[in-house]
Amino acid sequence: MTAATAHQTALPFAPLQQAQQRALHPELHNAHIRFIGLNKTYPGQDAPALADIDLNIQRGEIFGIIGRSGAGKSSLIRTINRLEQPSGGRVLIDQVDIGEYDEDRLVALRRRIGMIFQHFNLMSAKTVWQNVELPLKVAGVPKAARERKVRELLELVGLQEKHRVYPAQLSGGQKQRVGIARALVHDPQILLCDEATSALDPETTESILGLLRDINQRLGLTIVLITHEMAVIRAICDRVVVLERGRVVEQGAVWEVFGDPQHAVSRTLLAPLQPPLSQSVQARLQVAPPSAQAAIVLRLRVSGRDAEAPDLSALFSALGGQVSLLQGGIEPIQERALGQLVVSVAGSVHGHAGVIERARQWAAQVEVLGYVV
Ligand SMILES: Nc1ncnc2c1ncn2[C@@H]1O[C@H](COP(=O)(O)OP(=O)(O)O)[C@@H](O)[C@H]1O
Ligand SMILES: [Mg+2]
Repeated sequence: MTAATAHQTALPFAPLQQAQQRALHPELHNAHIRFIGLNKTYPGQDAPALADIDLNIQRGEIFGIIGRSGAGKSSLIRTINRLEQPSGGRVLIDQVDIGEYDEDRLVALRRRIGMIFQHFNLMSAKTVWQNVELPLKVAGVPKAARERKVRELLELVGLQEKHRVYPAQLSGGQKQRVGIARALVHDPQILLCDEATSALDPETTESILGLLRDINQRLGLTIVLITHEMAVIRAICDRVVVLERGRVVEQGAVWEVFGDPQHAVSRTLLAPLQPPLSQSVQARLQVAPPSAQAAIVLRLRVSGRDAEAPDLSALFSALGGQVSLLQGGIEPIQERALGQLVVSVAGSVHGHAGVIERARQWAAQVEVLGYVV
């Protein structure tokens, strides 16, 4: 096989290299969805909506894509079921390049991929039952099988009682449950969620995310979830990528990105989740030390990189003075301890500079907030 024909097969490597590549990068060969050098520029636009995207999404994971409005999230997710045609690069599902699919295979592919939307996209003139049943009817599924499936799914999403009701009589959360039931009618292996909770209040968001996690675990579905809210990522995702202007600017396990965000956009998106410094601490802070005896106030960020809970006695003995906790705490994400502590350190034998240096050995990030007397 020549290099040119090898390029057209499902796997991106020539056969002689495949075994070697598999050994080196097992994750690529277990990937459920792969993007390889994906590009997309809309007609009439100068800037690309997607640029050089290389990503692997593993089977059974909940994969989050976050970014600001216009970052390219919807464009990216819609290449997975080919609602969007890439300008360059490839999308592989189960190692098969879907760019080579004809219309019939695309129809079959789209049935294996469910999708839910921010505004639910329900038919207002049809009941809950009819909304869920419709894609089965379109696919020519016989009546008895349709009824079995609709009943099973309405039970799964907790809407058995509402089957005769019209969408206008449902709450936002209930509408999204109908959307989820409808997305699952063909037993898909992939569920795409485009801002599925963005129109919902926090409590309803939590219950829908709980349902998605339940479905992921019970049915083993791979879920690809787009959001602009880090709280959604924190609640259910295993891994996350941050998109900005069509490019991946950061990716990793959720705890890694939350614990030590590298890119300015990630930090901006995380900012609403960071508790602000309390008014009472802020009011007492001075920019310059009023005296050598003044207490230094530090913000210590715990990144979760050490699998154990942070060792406070090690911190206290390192700082070598009187340490007071002013604000903060630890919150587990994916069983890692993440958080921040705002502490004041007075009377340290190491002096202010020594305290900062020693704090740096203990915390992932140290910020000097000021001084208090
Ligand atoms: N159909 C389209 N035609 C032209 N430009 C589009 C189209 N859809 C999206 N875009 C542009 O592509 C960029 C990415 O959009 P989108 O993928 O919708 O971002 P997001 O979902 O992150 O908000 C934006 O600049 C948007 O204006
Ligand atoms: Mg979008």
